[in-house]
Amino acid sequence: MPASDTFNAILNLMPVLFIWLLGLIFAVVVFTFIFDITQSKNAVLRNYPVIGHFRYLFSNLGEFFRQYFFAMDREEMPFNRAEREWVNRASKGKDNTIAFGSTKNLNVPGSTIFINCPFPTLDSDAVKTKVVTIGEGYSEHPYAAQSIFNISGMSYGAISKPAVLALSNGARKAGCWMNTGEGGLSPYHLEGGADLVFQIGTAKYGVRNEDGSLSQKKLKKIAQHDQVKMFELKVSQGAKPGKGGILPGVKITAEIANIRDIPEGQDSISPNRHIEASNAGELLDLINRVRDITKKPVGFKTVIGHTRWLEALLDEVNKRGTDSAPDFITVDGGDGGTGAAPMALMDNVGLPLKEALPLVVDAIMRCGLEDRIKVIASGKMITPADVAWAICAGADFVTSARGFMFAIGCIQSLKCNKNTCPTGITTHNKRLQKGLNPKNKAEKVKNYVDNMTKTVETIAHSCGVKEVRRLNRTHVRIVQINGKSIPMNELCPICPEGENHESI
Ligand SMILES: Cc1cc2nc3c(=O)[nH]c(=O)nc-3n(C[C@H](O)[C@H](O)[C@H](O)COP(=O)(O)O)c2cc1C
Repeated sequence: MPASDTFNAILNLMPVLFIWLLGLIFAVVVFTFIFDITQSKNAVLRNYPVIGHFRYLFSNLGEFFRQYFFAMDREEMPFNRAEREWVNRASKGKDNTIAFGSTKNLNVPGSTIFINCPFPTLDSDAVKTKVVTIGEGYSEHPYAAQSIFNISGMSYGAISKPAVLALSNGARKAGCWMNTGEGGLSPYHLEGGADLVFQIGTAKYGVRNEDGSLSQKKLKKIAQHDQVKMFELKVSQGAKPGKGGILPGVKITAEIANIRDIPEGQDSISPNRHIEASNAGELLDLINRVRDITKKPVGFKTVIGHTRWLEALLDEVNKRGTDSAPDFITVDGGDGGTGAAPMALMDNVGLPLKEALPLVVDAIMRCGLEDRIKVIASGKMITPADVAWAICAGADFVTSARGFMFAIGCIQSLKCNKNTCPTGITTHNKRLQKGLNPKNKAEKVKNYVDNMTKTVETIAHSCGVKEVRRLNRTHVRIVQINGKSIPMNELCPICPEGENHESI
């Protein structure tokens, strides 16, 4: 049959097809109407049959479309578009200048304003950010940490194989460390060749005996890897203080089960604290036990609610001797990220880093342990201003999880707990992982660290100091409820040593 005849035949069928289609739509509407008014589970659908479904459709679509069409640059949570775009441009190694003027409202209480020096540091006088050694004089293998900005704990399990490969290769290129998170040591952490901090969560994944206690033998084996530079006991993390890690069964593949020593395909819920540590003294015992076994620096990660227990721990250190101290403390903000956590803990438990970090630094300084214990800050530290603020407050290092997720392509679709991450970062679905190319994402990780370091140095030089860690609380003002700012050293009076504004 000639093509024109076929076309005419299809054209003649069109009215019939159209009537069939209308009939089908009518049947679906009638069926839905009857179903809606006879069901008793959903009040909206019973009272508004058929059209009630649009409410659910629109609220689902709204989640996706708001960020493109409606949300302003500084509006979204947890990270707004301006912040995400900074990371995006930094990780592409692109020009990161903006034009016309700031879109940031600086009257919002809590905003930070750095105090520029009229005589900033000349580039020729500037000193590169220094290497700081953790555990020097106290552990057999102290760790000389090159970078001020490092990768926070995200376990293999919560994030995918290509994500771990991208981060570990990127960390090696950038000269920063990567924290394994609580999911054990995977071959992909080692393959990248980066310095690693092995995290011991409350379930002791990868270093556990069958009953969930710490296996000395397995821990020793992990410490034998030259790449593993330090050990971090996870006391708590910002998104879920008082609750152990949650890894949904859909994400527990045979390989992940093997690395963690747990059954495949079943939800894995960690205990909500280390069974060996029910008080500050026992936590110190555990730290020292891990250091004795591994011979490497050991610290802990915690969220702060109050500091009485921390002061008790530091007093105990002074009683036992500085040998017994943790080599570092990682302070995580209560508004931290996670693969999965209950909303009540995420929203309402634990202090944000802005409040917690000065408290921890002050407690350490009051006990005279600032030269012994290094402070690592984490929690929404994804731009240079965040990192510079943390250094002013007294942190020695900053780590980020979600910043690095953005660097490797995260679009904040908030699906980390669903195995449906559209960018392949937090899913084990092979089809979705295809979009994540570890090789070029590793380059982005390196660019992000490089640009972060460079820009934090720029802030330091603008404040008139030669080296980033010379920043202190006199260099930053915090906006108060009346819209006026006051220097941070007046808000939090214990001031870490460093250059001040004598030159002004
Ligand atoms: C996908 C994902 C997995 C995480 N896994 C861990 C983990 O295994 N152990 C841990 O201590 N924190 C974990 N965290 C928390 C981060 O290490 C970090 O403390 C928190 O997200 C705050 O930092 P950020 O604001 O830079 O993300 C995870 C966070 C994310 C987003």
